[in-house]
Amino acid sequence: MKLLVTGGAGYVGSVVSALLLEAGHEVVVLDDVSTGHEDSVPEGARLVRGTLRDTAQDVMAGAGFEAVLHFAAKSLVGESVEKPGLYWDKNLGESLALLDAMRVAGVPRIVFSSTAAVYGEPESTPILETDPTRPTNPYGASKLAIDTALAEYARLHGIGGVSLRYFNVAGAYGRLGERHTVETHLIPNVLKIAQGDGEAVKMFGDDYPTPDGTCIRDYIHVTDLGRAHLLALDACAPGTHRIFNLGSGTGNSVKEVVDVCREVTGREIPAEVAPRRPGDPAVLVASSDKIQAELGWKPERDLRTMIDDAWTFLRSR
Ligand code: UFG
Repeated sequence: MKLLVTGGAGYVGSVVSALLLEAGHEVVVLDDVSTGHEDSVPEGARLVRGTLRDTAQDVMAGAGFEAVLHFAAKSLVGESVEKPGLYWDKNLGESLALLDAMRVAGVPRIVFSSTAAVYGEPESTPILETDPTRPTNPYGASKLAIDTALAEYARLHGIGGVSLRYFNVAGAYGRLGERHTVETHLIPNVLKIAQGDGEAVKMFGDDYPTPDGTCIRDYIHVTDLGRAHLLALDACAPGTHRIFNLGSGTGNSVKEVVDVCREVTGREIPAEVAPRRPGDPAVLVASSDKIQAELGWKPERDLRTMIDDAWTFLRSR
């Protein structure tokens, strides 16, 4: 298929672009390279630099794209609380520009990067797709609004959409890994300390109602996550919008992650308890039953493999 990948210079977008190329698809990446990196765009994909608002319509007009995979977004929870307008504008506003450009150009399918943040503080665990969506920050709220817009575009304009709600993505795919200028995620932060960049891991809170007191998250390997996008692409059916959680279905605590990082790196990795980070739910674990049953997807790589791959990636840089 001829595919437009927005945000293909970013972490997940670049990995999925690589997998799509390997599967024989033609890939054009649309990215403003504001947080992504030009050299993350895999060889074989063509990069168009620009924002969705300014360029999506021109890029798609008459180009014969068969689908869009939409990753381009602002994705820092903390930043979204400080600058909600930026998140509504970049995430929702630019996504609406993209959807309209698709409608005008007659592009029939879209796979969208949604997030576990749409659920907010869960009432029960594991989280099902039918559970209430009550985002606790503008990042999650803006992504939920895009899910809603996709449902409307499906109903009104016949677009086939799939939203994949990511839990905690980790690991690397060869030379493609996490390269955020501002790094807030646990695993890369712990591995930076292992490399000697910083003094001690800060574990945000050890008084949560979990067995060891630290927060539990559902980590998923970026390659497993990437494979789900190829299945989702095939599952896009005209006039329907489907939603799938994307996690491994198991949880690991912050302390467990730090311990596995110590085992994988063979380094001591000093860690200290710091105050809770505002807005962190105690436990976020996905039910991945729906995507397993309906798309035949299964996670294949465990936490150790994620950390191993992230560590290899970090040391290669
Ligand atoms: N943590 C630490 N120390 C750190 C970094 C993180 O203790 O240096 C803890 C956090 O408090 C949290 C856990 O490690 O308990 C995981 O934190 P991350 O920042 O790695 O990931 P989040 O669970 O906060 O965020 C992820 C996605 C977001 C998404 C969110 C849904 O990265 O995009 O899940 O709630 F919005």
